[in-house]
Amino acid sequence: MFRGNVGLDIQTFRQGKSMTDKHIETALIQAGRAKRYTQGSVNSVIQRASSLVFDSVDAKKQATAGRAQGELFYGRRGTLTHFSLQEAMCELEGGAGCALFPCGAAAVANTILAFVEQGDHVLVTNSAYEPTQDFCTKILTKFGVTTTWFDPLAGEGIAQHLQPNTKVVFLESPGSVTMEVHDVPAIVAAVRRVAPDAIIMMDNTWAAGILFKALDFGVDISIQAGTKYLVGHSDAMIGTAVANARCWETLRENAYLMGQMADADTAYVTSRGLRTLAVRLRQHHESGLRVAQWLAAHPQVARVNHPALPGSKGHEFWKRDFSGASGLFSFILDKRLSDAELARYLDNFRHFSMAYSWGGYESLILANQPEELAAIRPAGGVDFSGTLVRLHIGLENVEDLIADLDEAFRRIA
Ligand SMILES: Cc1ncc(COP(=O)(O)O)c(C=O)c1O
Repeated sequence: MFRGNVGLDIQTFRQGKSMTDKHIETALIQAGRAKRYTQGSVNSVIQRASSLVFDSVDAKKQATAGRAQGELFYGRRGTLTHFSLQEAMCELEGGAGCALFPCGAAAVANTILAFVEQGDHVLVTNSAYEPTQDFCTKILTKFGVTTTWFDPLAGEGIAQHLQPNTKVVFLESPGSVTMEVHDVPAIVAAVRRVAPDAIIMMDNTWAAGILFKALDFGVDISIQAGTKYLVGHSDAMIGTAVANARCWETLRENAYLMGQMADADTAYVTSRGLRTLAVRLRQHHESGLRVAQWLAAHPQVARVNHPALPGSKGHEFWKRDFSGASGLFSFILDKRLSDAELARYLDNFRHFSMAYSWGGYESLILANQPEELAAIRPAGGVDFSGTLVRLHIGLENVEDLIADLDEAFRRIA
């Protein structure tokens, strides 16, 4: 959809297409807005309900029979507000169904859980979001499910990590914090060849499900912390998992039995977030690249981990497979900051706040020492010794952000 230019080989957002072959910007405006959901208004109605009332025995029978196919049945199966969002997500990501969860971590955990049983093995990228790793090592182990890790740049080499009992292969691209981009086509081909029954799922939050069309690349389930770009305003939490036809029924029924759902108000603000997603992402892309380019030329920076920069790990796969970049990336300072330097650096920003999460309209900053990151890379540490800074570039004027970063470098010079 979009491509930017940081003195690189990338110009503007590429034109993405939705499942129905509309341009993605148009699909984002229209998806999930059938009359049944909007009832004469522009947006979907907010239908808050636990009980949904049946007019007759016959109506109850019909609702029960169609409860998994969009009939109003019981709040936990969803209301018109949820159905509207689920339909939109399916159109945007090209899936057969979309399960909703109260947050991204719940989406990750429950989607994995839906496909494993005692004795199974899951293979997870070494740069997965830390709570995803912890779910595997602290929860799955209790049920006799083992986890091993693969190098995010393994490509076809992933084949050597597949075991006869591998049931789930879990991708995240770009990887959390260190931003490695997978060669997804090579990974999918290797998994299909060696372990055809394994389910391939991907945390696709960075790409907001649209800058990388995971299901088009053969991934079975695209998971998002909708908390980030879908909601887009840092004021609600939701998780989404869009599944292909092979996986939808299993995911849907497992999520239902685990009691997973989002509330109607959050489903509503998520749908509303979709309407501005393309313009927000375009700005995150442009401003993020501008800052990344500026950092790449800075003498106090050893490396910039931005998928759109040549030299960033897996850049060639981003360039081939993604239609744009979002606003999250990291860079490595040329030295390891002392505690005092780190505090001086981080405590005095004017436009960047320190916070977990990302994907809202605001700019954020966090820093990690290399040993902290090495501790969450179970199959092998990190290849740098300077302090790593993670930025989320928001929708402020980019020159203000650069000036703020410039001052910060002077504080640690
Ligand atoms: C890549 C990634 N996946 C999943 C999550 C979890 O999302 P949530 O905070 O909505 O549980 C996060 C949150 O930071 C994330 O960065």
